[in-house]
This record gives sequence, C-alpha cells and structure tokens, in this order.
Amino acid sequence: MVTRSVDLRSDTVTKPTESMRAAMASAEVDDDVLGYDPTALLLETKMARIMGKEAALFVPSGTMGNLIAVLVHCEVRGSEVILGDTCHINIYENGGISTIGGVHSRQLKNNDDGTIDIDLIESAIRDPRGELMFPTTRLICLENTHANSGGRCLSVEYTNRVGEVAKKHGLKLHIDGARIFNASVALGVTVDKLVKAADSASVCLSKGIGAPIGSVIVGTKNFISKAKRLRKTLGGGMRQIGILCAAALVALKENVGKLESDHKKTRLLADGLNEIKGLGINPLSVETNIIFIDIVDCTRTTIEKICKYLEERGILVMHDKPSRLRVVLHHQISTSDVQYTLSCFQQAIQIENDN
Ligand SMILES: Cc1ncc(COP(=O)(O)O)c(C=O)c1O
Repeated sequence: MVTRSVDLRSDTVTKPTESMRAAMASAEVDDDVLGYDPTALLLETKMARIMGKEAALFVPSGTMGNLIAVLVHCEVRGSEVILGDTCHINIYENGGISTIGGVHSRQLKNNDDGTIDIDLIESAIRDPRGELMFPTTRLICLENTHANSGGRCLSVEYTNRVGEVAKKHGLKLHIDGARIFNASVALGVTVDKLVKAADSASVCLSKGIGAPIGSVIVGTKNFISKAKRLRKTLGGGMRQIGILCAAALVALKENVGKLESDHKKTRLLADGLNEIKGLGINPLSVETNIIFIDIVDCTRTTIEKICKYLEERGILVMHDKPSRLRVVLHHQISTSDVQYTLSCFQQAIQIENDN
C-alpha cells in the first residue's frame, strides 16, 4: 500500500493551504457581477498595481483570460493574431480564438527557448494594402514562461523588442503570463517590467503560486471594461467570487516567495535525473519549475512501464509525447519528495534494464 504521494503532473494540482482555507472561510463577499464583491476588488486592485497596469479583472481560468484578451484586441471581424506554433493558446485552448472569436491565427515557429524570431514576426505582419485578400494583423501573443519549451523565460529585452515591432505596425501585444511570477523570480526582475511592453497580460493564480482557482487579466481601464462585458458573454461572470479571491490574496502573499525554492528543487531533480542512464534532459531548458524527460534509446524499458512503476509508489507524472515525460514542481513538493522521486526513477530504469 502506497502512503506517500508526490504529485508532479502539474503545478495546477496544489491543494489550498490552511491559511487559504481560513481566508476563504472568512472572506467578505458580495455580488461580483453587480461589481460589489470587496475581496475581488481588492485582488484586482492589487494585481493591477503589481503588474503595473491601470486595471485588472478576475476570470475563471487562464483559457478564458487569453480568449477574452484576444477577442478584445481583435474585435473587428477578419483580424489575425501572430503567435507561436507551440504556445498554449494555439495548442491547448480548443482553438477558441477562431471557433468562438472568428480570429485567424498566424502560427510562427517557436524556438527552443520559447521566443519567436523577431524578423519572422515582422515579416508575417500583413501588408494593409493587401486587405482585399489578407486578414488584418491586429495582435501578437507571447507566452512567459513558455510551457511547451520547458518553462523557459522571455527576457525583458526580448519582450520590449517585440513590443516595439507591435507599436511600429499599430498592433497590440498580449502576454500569456500563466507563470509570469516564475519568470520574474528566475530572471530576477519584477513582473511589471516583463509586461511593460504589453497591452494586456493574463496571469494564472492556480499554477506556480498555488491558489485553487482563477486567473487575472490586466491592461488599460478601457481594455478591462470591454473584457468585463466579454467575460459575462462567455458565462464567466460569477457572483460571490471573494471566496476564491481571498485564497489568491494569500497565494500572492505567501507563495511567490517560495518560487525560488521550487526552481532550486526542479534543478536538483533535473540534474539527478540526467545522471540516470536511459533518461535525457536538456539542462539548458530547465529555468523554472518544468522538466521534460526524454526516455532515450539505450534503455530497454517503456514509458508506460516507468509511469506504472512510479504510480505504484505514489509518484504521478505526465506522459507528454511517446517517449517523453513532463514533471512540474510546486510549493507542495519537498526536497525529500525530490530525493524519493530520484530513487524511484533510478529503480524503475534499473529493474527493467536488469530483466
Ligand atoms: C501557459 C499556459 N497558458 C494558459 C493556460 C490555461 O490555464 P487554465 O488551465 O486555467 O485554463 C495554461 C494551463 O496549463 C498554461 O500552461
């Protein structure tokens, strides 16, 4: 019988802490659709200030936050957005920007570090003189950290350069900052600098910083008032959300400071896994809390067998590609969990290779 649980499937799996539960139990609430929930207003004011933007809006999920942002920036029918081919909006959000928003996507190659070449972005912007045939480019989207690249960080310098290109061509820039706090901690810069060049950003409360539910989008007051209308249209207007926002306020206060330690533990795990024959990790890709583990040819085991072996010992990981696993660390993973995980991986590979 396994008594230990090490859940490395994602940083979305965290359980609310005692202090979050206490804050939720005593949260002051009111009807947020009517605009009166004091705890939601407090969270939104705080997030706008932290992100250096005029206003903020709580939304139920990162997916809805990104969808709303794209729809606000592309409100004219026939708009096109430039984004990376491996970004979350392009791959994991059900194509909502096209199916719901009628927005055409121009997918450009994401480099291994999560960037898109700036020349490529600039050359993909449609010539307005071709409007008889072309959709009109109105938006560029970036993702920081870039999850599918292993949680790599986009620098302030890179983001500002993309912002300059956007401005030069009269476009908007949106940043999917689901894990922007991880990027801020890893790069040693404040989050407001990372989104300064952007017209909007979405930030997940329920990923690295460990709140149970929700995201926040930030931008100008005008952007947020349009976003509020769209949130209602999409069914994301909710009533006494102060209960959720209270937990998010605790996450901001108590968990942002834990990210550095999460990143150190991620590095410890990645370095240890890389020493196991049969496993391969690109050490350059480990910048924050995500590790992609390739099962390399020299081993005789299969990814399914490894997952089963780990699961029987309480360790949960995500099967990413046919020969790739993904693990994500968060504040509820201890150094001892990392050591336990390493020894179980070692045994999983050893046993199969000995057979
Ligand atoms: C980079 C990124 N953006 C957006 C999202 C969407 O967030 P949600 O699951 O809250 O819809 C995720 C979720 O994993 C993500 O990793």
